[in-house]
Amino acid sequence: MITTVEVGLGDRAYRVLIGGGLLDAAGEHIAPLLKRGRVAVVSDETVWALHGARLTQGLGRAGVTAIPILVPPGEGSKSFGMLARLSDDLLALSLDRGDMIVAFGGGVVGDLAGFAAAIYKRGIDFIQIPTTLLAQVDSSVGGKTAIDTARGKNLIGAFHQPRLVLADLDVLSTLTDREMRAGYAEVLKYGLLGDFDFFQWLEINAAQVLAREPEALARAVARSVEMKAQIVAEDERESGRRALLNLGHTFGHALEAETGYGHELLHGEGVAIGMAQAFRFSARQGLCPQQDAERAQAAIATAGLPTQMRQAPGGPFSVQALLSHMAQDKKAEGGRLTFILARALGEAFVAKEVEAAAVRDFLIEDGASQDEAAA
Ligand code: GLY
Repeated sequence: MITTVEVGLGDRAYRVLIGGGLLDAAGEHIAPLLKRGRVAVVSDETVWALHGARLTQGLGRAGVTAIPILVPPGEGSKSFGMLARLSDDLLALSLDRGDMIVAFGGGVVGDLAGFAAAIYKRGIDFIQIPTTLLAQVDSSVGGKTAIDTARGKNLIGAFHQPRLVLADLDVLSTLTDREMRAGYAEVLKYGLLGDFDFFQWLEINAAQVLAREPEALARAVARSVEMKAQIVAEDERESGRRALLNLGHTFGHALEAETGYGHELLHGEGVAIGMAQAFRFSARQGLCPQQDAERAQAAIATAGLPTQMRQAPGGPFSVQALLSHMAQDKKAEGGRLTFILARALGEAFVAKEVEAAAVRDFLIEDGASQDEAAA
């Protein structure tokens, strides 16, 4: 069964299709959007080796030729250098504005290919075919595209909405359990930030989702995408409500920055610790009942995800270093810290002007070191 979620953005509205067999049916969905029977497929070497043949055949069935452009897997590909190489490869294919790019991979490929599409000849259409749980429930939907610089992640980018998203649940079977858990952190995020019923359902069904049991997985992905689509339709440019999607991200990004954005601490693992911290901090500030914070942490831990900074490699982390990452985060406005905090399970809110001193005290209590040299 295929579930369709519409991202309601007026004349830029698009559909997210969720279900099995979508790679095989890719041509049928993509061909009507094309002027010429070919697409440039940006992918990484790992994804292409696993699933490239299926996508090529799926496109071929509708007379669409896939021209692969492969980048190395990993966050390192979200760089100016790789963007330049990719842009040259696209130019060499003489793609014009009537053509289409397909981003076929996880969050790295989606962000890089999406940004290339945003700037190629001042903007060309693109399609997302996300192959990780994290990309299916979060990064492929909503049009955020970016690369990293030495000063931080995702600092150079553009809003550029895809024309279509195909989330094929079959491809999740090749993910490692660790990658599934990391993606699941973003699924849980939707329950924690705005849907208590979904949170309760996840409390009961986490194991089935993680085991990729088809019905549970389809429901978890579809509900996550529905929530993301609704929030993006209300606030595409993150001037308000979209910031809720950053629950756990300010704390999490600081840890990711300290651990080097690599395999040591996956993004979803940083977000898991960050969400637990956001709930602990909210309870400490008297904003949220302690029992809700405990229940949020239990749900994170039950999924095999970390909840404490000491579970991240490379600690203890210096409170000064963490605070300085938080201040540099693009969600910080005018030196004041913005956090997504919680009033209850399923009720997150944007807290602007959070006192750095309160965050500092919390981080020290939470296990950060006061010794600057410790990081
Ligand atoms: N990943 C957060 C957002 O798309 O706004």
